Amino acid sequence: MPIRKRTVGWIGAGRMGYEMAARLAKGGADVLVWNRTRAKAGPLAEYGARVADKVSELAARDIVFCMVSTWKDVKEVMADLLKDSRSRPRLVVECSSISLEGSAELREMLEKKKIEYLAAPVSGNAKVIKAGKLTFVCSGPKKAFDLARPFLDLIAANSSYVGEGELSRIVKICHNVFLGVVTQSLAEITVLAQKAGVPRHAFLDFMNRSVLGSTFTRYKAPAFVNLDFKVTFTPQLLRKDMDLGLDAARKFGVPMPLASATRDLIQSMIGQGWTEQDFATLLLQQAEASGVELKPENVEVGDGLS
Ligand SMILES: NC(=O)c1ccc[n+]([C@@H]2O[C@H](COP(=O)([O-])OP(=O)(O)OC[C@H]3O[C@@H](n4cnc5c(N)ncnc54)[C@H](OP(=O)(O)O)[C@@H]3O)[C@@H](O)[C@H]2O)c1
Repeated sequence: MPIRKRTVGWIGAGRMGYEMAARLAKGGADVLVWNRTRAKAGPLAEYGARVADKVSELAARDIVFCMVSTWKDVKEVMADLLKDSRSRPRLVVECSSISLEGSAELREMLEKKKIEYLAAPVSGNAKVIKAGKLTFVCSGPKKAFDLARPFLDLIAANSSYVGEGELSRIVKICHNVFLGVVTQSLAEITVLAQKAGVPRHAFLDFMNRSVLGSTFTRYKAPAFVNLDFKVTFTPQLLRKDMDLGLDAARKFGVPMPLASATRDLIQSMIGQGWTEQDFATLLLQQAEASGVELKPENVEVGDGLS
């Protein structure tokens, strides 16, 4: 189905939602966007998107995407979207990182209104979206995935369909538990190498070119080397995802000792007031705990994205 034949509603123009909606609009989709703080959505007009005053205006669109923070927020905006029963979208694509239970509740809520539903969380930050390297993991009826696919393709490099129901939610939760554990581990070994005398840029250059280097370790290198902790993902949102992982682990009877320890380290960081910068400040906490004073190395380091 050509993208111009369907209208799109977009809920949420935060760090992620803004860049995702921008790709849709730049790709030629007819996008009407709503954000709680209207001003953040305004610049999307530059790409041809229109900005709605109320979320309920999006109910008349064919497909509505949602990218907000937590399940509580999704529930609130969805209730507002659907409160006027005169119009309803054909399909809702929900992209926030939420629990299996929240996603199932949303499916029930939408089924009652005969609206199709694709659960479609993502991997990658705003910079990754801009670089065209975001990926979706999707679950729900296959026909909902097929309907959404041309739009997903405008936003992301790949969309994996993993099956019915809420399966994509557990995939995303597992992914972000790994994100937390990997970041803490990277902080530990970077501080260890530095304390033993290796400059961070030299250590990470080797790691990133080794078999253990990844897109993620490469794009975190500039922050680790030059201590630029401008937010890509907040510590609070990462704690939410670690908690989702540990809740699921309890439900399914899976021990997760590394995830548990990492969750508490993230909590310690938040408790000490490191909340306004990127979650990669786990490095600063690790340095402090190791009696190491970190200074920016002021070395140009590629992020592997541009
Ligand atoms: N950042 C990442 O790297 C990343 C990567 C993958 C997935 N995620 C997931 O993507 C989601 C969004 O993350 P983000 O980094 O874009 O967060 P963010 O920058 O904090 O944006 C949050 C968005 O949700 C909206 N919102 C929050 N509560 C709301 C409510 N009660 N009613 C209406 N709107 C509400 C905010 O509106 P206002 O502008 O009015 O505050 C904003 O548009 C989260 O579930 C996160 O876990 C993030």
